[in-house]
Amino acid sequence: MKNRVIDIFREKYGKEPEILSFAPGRVNIIGEHTDYNGGFVLPAALKQGTYIAGGKGKDRSIKVYSANLDREEEWQAGNETKRGNFGDYLRGIIKFLPFELSSGFEAVIFSDLPMESGLSSSAALEISFINFILGIEGKTLDKLDIVEIAHRAENQFVGLQCGIMDQFISVFGRENHLLFLDTLKIRHKHVPFPSFWTLAVVNSGIKRELSSSEYNRRRKECEEALNAVKKLFPEVETLRDVTEEMLFEAKDLMNETVFKRAMHVISENQRVLQVVDYLEKRDTCMIEKLMKLAHQSLAEDFEVSLPELDFLVDTASSLPYVHGARLTGAGFGGSIVAILEKKKEKEFREKIQEEYMRKSGRKADVLFSPPSSGAYFLKL
Ligand code: GLA
Repeated sequence: MKNRVIDIFREKYGKEPEILSFAPGRVNIIGEHTDYNGGFVLPAALKQGTYIAGGKGKDRSIKVYSANLDREEEWQAGNETKRGNFGDYLRGIIKFLPFELSSGFEAVIFSDLPMESGLSSSAALEISFINFILGIEGKTLDKLDIVEIAHRAENQFVGLQCGIMDQFISVFGRENHLLFLDTLKIRHKHVPFPSFWTLAVVNSGIKRELSSSEYNRRRKECEEALNAVKKLFPEVETLRDVTEEMLFEAKDLMNETVFKRAMHVISENQRVLQVVDYLEKRDTCMIEKLMKLAHQSLAEDFEVSLPELDFLVDTASSLPYVHGARLTGAGFGGSIVAILEKKKEKEFREKIQEEYMRKSGRKADVLFSPPSSGAYFLKL
């Protein structure tokens, strides 16, 4: 991949690139729709991600070619306006940088992450791009500042009100570790992942047009639940502070849907803590059960699953070498994650593809990755 992005840059712009950056996609093991409610998440960085190669230009003109989309975006540094395409992620980043660009540049983006599959290709693009800019400008930023800039660009410029998980793991990922993040206190720790396991991501191939508006609606419903609970318990600040008992006491102050959304968030936070606890004690048996409960809660209380995702989860879970499976990411299509024994990758892929094809007539793309490292850049 590294060499390919460098070759594409040479071909496209007829010169040598100066900087190569990379940022990984992510898969979340447990803790879904909790990161915008002050809750807990447990993602892993993937070995797949987004590469950017490029170098400074002679004037203020910025040219970025996406090899995946076969499309070039061009604009003048300082003139970052929204156009409704992939360039918005980049222009959003530039807007929120704490320094001005000293010149324009040319860059090529190339990713081995499938887009819109729930693996956070947008955070990988944002983080890789910030690293690329730091490389060409010879600047440094704190890791947390990098996360913050990418998060603001996505929320305030692109317009998806996402939480902080995806940007955070893309920066802070560590090989063979999951990342436990408390999204309220912004404190994290790396949790060792058993060396005999790996992660599989199975893409349902379903992309939901409405996913960003549905996502923003879920956020609003969570806020509604919080506001209702606050009427009885004014001290609570996020759903993270709300217990099941408090939620039941406030049940009459909200509608059934809003109640279910909050129930998911509250129970999910507990499950994340339990999974971390079991992993730290090296007691891996209960993880499968907790992932199953997490999927059920996403399907029934948060209502972000689809029959195809349920089918993939059930099929994966029925295999003796799988130790947990659930939908991952925002839902409404996208992918499932499965924990499986390392040597069973080939068997798993064949089985899941065969069953999914028989059931839905679709091909399920499967990728494997152990938990991997976070973003970096290199001077070439
Ligand atoms: C998307 C968002 C994340 C998180 C997940 C759901 O991936 O970008 O911030 O909210 O959905 O857990």
